[in-house]
Amino acid sequence: MLVVEKNALTEEIEGLVEKLGNDRSALLKILHEIQKKHRHIPDFAQQEIARLLDIHPVEVYSVISFYAFLNTEPKGRNLVRVCQTITCDMLGKKALCDAITREIGCNFGESTKDHKFHLEYANCLGLCDEGPAMAVNEKVYTKLTPEKAVAILNDIK
Ligand code: FES
Repeated sequence: MLVVEKNALTEEIEGLVEKLGNDRSALLKILHEIQKKHRHIPDFAQQEIARLLDIHPVEVYSVISFYAFLNTEPKGRNLVRVCQTITCDMLGKKALCDAITREIGCNFGESTKDHKFHLEYANCLGLCDEGPAMAVNEKVYTKLTPEKAVAILNDIK
């Protein structure tokens, strides 16, 4: 007799559906849990979520695309966010961004090939009088120069 093992991801999603519900209102919570564990929502997970919630996969994908904290590809382990809002912009954001992209070797909106960093723009980080500002994961750095930013990233490397 042929025994087909159920995919581990399917089992995981079935468990989440059981815990969080099988209607549309559970979709975001389920996506959140998958993102937390896998650092992205794989294509197969999107298909399985759609199947188990009885919705179209396009609906799942459109929710993922809408929320910045959900993504279909794994992001780098360290999230680097540079404030792009006007005060930081006037205080030298451009030079900072140029130095950062040169140093870690990827553009904004991308992750490095070794998955150490993911680079993004952020809107105001709440420390406008101390710009330009950058956050690495939960920690915010202020009054940055290109040299200081590069040194911070090198410490993490
Ligand atoms: S404008 Fe950059 S922290 Fe507020």
